[in-house]
Amino acid sequence: MAMSGAKRELIELPTPRLDGDVSLENALLRRRSVREFTGHPLSLAHAAQLLWAGQGVTSDWGGRTAPSAGALYPLELYLVAGAVSELPAGLYRFQPRTNELMGEKPSDLRTALAASARGQGWIATAPAIVIVTAVEQRTAAKYGRRAARYVQIEAGHAAQNVALQAVALGLGCTPVGAFDDEHLHSLLGAPAAARPLYLLPVGYPA
Ligand SMILES: Cc1cc2nc3c(=O)[nH]c(=O)nc-3n(C[C@H](O)[C@H](O)[C@H](O)COP(=O)(O)O)c2cc1C
Repeated sequence: MAMSGAKRELIELPTPRLDGDVSLENALLRRRSVREFTGHPLSLAHAAQLLWAGQGVTSDWGGRTAPSAGALYPLELYLVAGAVSELPAGLYRFQPRTNELMGEKPSDLRTALAASARGQGWIATAPAIVIVTAVEQRTAAKYGRRAARYVQIEAGHAAQNVALQAVALGLGCTPVGAFDDEHLHSLLGAPAAARPLYLLPVGYPA
């Protein structure tokens, strides 16, 4: 079971697997929103695999698992860890280029996160939650007002990758769009520019 207290330091993640036992077709067939989880902790390898599916770097020039308008990569993935083996509870930011996590906050934010999400209490029962945020300015520098649309589309690409990877690992998740933007933003303590767009509570289906 995870100890308390993410530290402000980098944590090397397990190398992602580049093959698996479940076909894409089968993952598509079986993907269903899951809101009830066993109490089983998420392994660090599975947490790392989900983050890689969402935004992992897959080419020498920096290309990632999800497409990005102009290859500007405005998305930042956060992990709220509550019960992740070998990972103290807390908030972490995924560093795609180095496959590391940066500890951002030392406390278990799941209950506060569920409150942010209009009181959807089931969210706090997931061992971990992947949060898709976007720094829209990165895309706006090239695409101006169109960037607002592009970052939303990109969040969908990343979230679907995470959802399908979850199925392939025997996990389940539900994409959550109902939350209070300002409350969640201040809860994360993320840089002002990084806006939360989507939540993916994930765990082993009950
Ligand atoms: C943009 C978006 C926002 C959603 N927000 C929530 C949410 O806040 N809470 C929730 O329980 N489910 C949420 N869902 C999940 C839908 O309820 C779910 O996808 C739908 O019922 C279809 O079921 P399925 O995902 O099992 O195919 C959301 C789905 C989408 C695409």
